[in-house]
Amino acid sequence: MFLNAYRGRRVFVTGHTGFKGSWLAAWLTQMGAKVAGFSDGVPTKPSHFESMHLANHIEDLRGDIRDRQTMSRAIQQFKPDVIFHLAAQALVRKSYEDPVTTFESNMLGTMNVLEAVRHTPSVEAVIMITSDKCYRNNEQVWGYRETDHLGGADPYSASKGCAEIIAQSYFKSFFKNGPACATVRAGNVIGGGDWAQDRIVPDCARAWAAGKPVTVRSPWATRPWQLVLEPLSGYLLLGARLLDNGSAPFNPRGEAYNFGPAATVNNTVAEVVQALAMHWPGFSSKMDTSGQAGMKECTLLKLCCDKALAHLHWKATLTFEETIRFTAEWYHRFYKGLAGTPNDMLDFTLGQIAAYVNLAEQRAQIWTK
Ligand SMILES: NC(=O)c1ccc[n+]([C@@H]2O[C@H](COP(=O)([O-])OP(=O)(O)OC[C@H]3O[C@@H](n4cnc5c(N)ncnc54)[C@H](O)[C@@H]3O)[C@@H](O)[C@H]2O)c1
Repeated sequence: MFLNAYRGRRVFVTGHTGFKGSWLAAWLTQMGAKVAGFSDGVPTKPSHFESMHLANHIEDLRGDIRDRQTMSRAIQQFKPDVIFHLAAQALVRKSYEDPVTTFESNMLGTMNVLEAVRHTPSVEAVIMITSDKCYRNNEQVWGYRETDHLGGADPYSASKGCAEIIAQSYFKSFFKNGPACATVRAGNVIGGGDWAQDRIVPDCARAWAAGKPVTVRSPWATRPWQLVLEPLSGYLLLGARLLDNGSAPFNPRGEAYNFGPAATVNNTVAEVVQALAMHWPGFSSKMDTSGQAGMKECTLLKLCCDKALAHLHWKATLTFEETIRFTAEWYHRFYKGLAGTPNDMLDFTLGQIAAYVNLAEQRAQIWTK
């Protein structure tokens, strides 16, 4: 898998206690990488990270990405081969409440990681995770391409557009002959173990587990929903190609890539809630759409992933129904299953990764080789 690029490699993951970072750290560990994670704490309770007791399986480092010295020291001491930078203030609503922390974390944090990389000779590849929201959103019905305008009206989206510009500046100014770097843009990632505020799947999990109807803000908004393992397979493939010195078909060094589902997967929030409810037996699946907030949120956001297909031969593996099934089964296991049993959620998470890889093999995805 991934050209066997990660076995025995030292991989530094920022944001490893968060939703996507914990899945990435688990997958890397399963592939035989030596993983260090760097985060300022565990952002939610419960959390995917703690449910797996992942701290027992990786080097679990704590610090603030806004603190350049701490960040630099952690990277220089670990001497990674590869860095995946995911740590961020990742929530749109929180960015309205606290724009300063959002800009500091997402812009300064990005700069601090890249500064540390400049002074750490071991680093061969860096993948900077930004967002699909980095694009200037004009509600177009076709997907955003990597060459489209960056932008973002709300502070979170703007901070991710800025992070893209900072990363591109470092790539062009300092890393032409240094580590191979790229940025990645994905969005609306769902899957087990997310308990972030104001995201539809965690909102369903919290409400239904308490026997209450879920409050839905924008039921008719469409999003390119994808299982967390889908963009992670793209990030890992890109990392493997960067480590491999950009072998055929295209050298991705210094590039930006979108990773999203097939163009046909563009379901509404209401459809996600209804589909989740069908796979979640025993829970109330009621939806309350009366309390819609006044916060500005775009109703349409699509990504064009032709570049990832052309350069990396990457495409999404799962259908919408499979995405929902994986997601619902994880929460079902957590709430109704054996979550108290040591290692159960780690084993279950690794089992879902194995099942996903198995489907990807059947569908001849290039990264399974
Ligand atoms: N989940 C999605 O749908 C989605 C969509 C687009 C982009 N992204 C991006 O992917 C990345 C991961 O997202 P997620 O959903 O896992 O987010 P998350 O909120 O679950 O996790 C964020 C992680 O960053 C860490 N963090 C936040 N501020 C920090 C700071 N100042 N110092 C150190 N650590 C800090 C947290 O401790 C946590 O580990 C983020 O960059 C996010 O913007 C996520």
